[in-house]
Amino acid sequence: MRPGQPSSTAQWVAFARGLGPWHEPALSDDPLAATLLGGTLGALLGVAAAVPPLTRALVRFGDFATGGRTRFMCYRTRVLDDAVRAAAAEGIDQLVILGAGLDSRAWRLGSAVAGMTVFEVDHPDTQALKRSRLGERPLQAADVHFVGVDFGVDSLEANLLAAGFNPVRPALVLWEGVVMYLHPAAIDATLATLRGLLAPGSAVATSYSRSSGGRATLLRRLVGLVVGAMGEPFRHHEEPAQMRVRMERAGFRVRWDEGHPDWVPRYTGGATTWDMQRIVLAEPQP
Ligand SMILES: C[S@@+](CC[C@H](N)C(=O)[O-])C[C@H]1O[C@@H](n2cnc3c(N)ncnc32)[C@H](O)[C@@H]1O
Repeated sequence: MRPGQPSSTAQWVAFARGLGPWHEPALSDDPLAATLLGGTLGALLGVAAAVPPLTRALVRFGDFATGGRTRFMCYRTRVLDDAVRAAAAEGIDQLVILGAGLDSRAWRLGSAVAGMTVFEVDHPDTQALKRSRLGERPLQAADVHFVGVDFGVDSLEANLLAAGFNPVRPALVLWEGVVMYLHPAAIDATLATLRGLLAPGSAVATSYSRSSGGRATLLRRLVGLVVGAMGEPFRHHEEPAQMRVRMERAGFRVRWDEGHPDWVPRYTGGATTWDMQRIVLAEPQP
């Protein structure tokens, strides 16, 4: 991240989510994206809604040019929305969102978050932008706490506890679109903190990027150059087997690990071999 500035990738991810209906009408979209973005990107989402055929064509081109990344983000958001719904059904009432960016779940997931206290953990510079854009928008979660943490500088554990996180009650932790920007040591350190902090019955859902894949690898290099120019370079990609080892070493058990070949049939009835980004859901080992 650039000093004193909100995360650029958080804004681009929210922009991609705002284009969700143009990617896959069957997926949930993010109706708050334009509000949270404001500025040029927020205005562009408004224009997009006004010219559907042009938007559809541009979205298809953008998706091709980024090797499926913009479309993927809408799937991963939907999968994690469903993880929140499943956690609510299990009675989990704490939701921790690491690197929350412009995540809008606390303001849009209705009954799934109505009984949850949400802890949004992010860099204070990104949180400042978000809070200024949120204004008086009504919260749908039971409560929200903005936990300012500069990963690698501040203590995640101390700041979460100071914000009222209850380590005796189970929690769902979402880590969406963040670990690809971290060094492996920072990923392991965060997992170790979570393992020490989370009560039995908790779960951590982490989206990650695979390290293999022909054309996709070339495109990732190009996308990597772009996000690097935004001040947030990609730092980490790995295969599911390595991710499983990482989770187990940190004291977690993998409950599931899924990617596009699982989600496309589930949500839209189609099929794909595109499998560059995945989500692993792991729980603390007893
Ligand atoms: C690609 S964005 C993902 C945002 C959000 N999870 C989503 O999917 O919309 C990465 C997030 O990591 C946060 N981040 C990056 N470096 C950070 C740091 N050193 N400390 C705290 N947060 C950081 C950024 O502020 C940003 O919100």
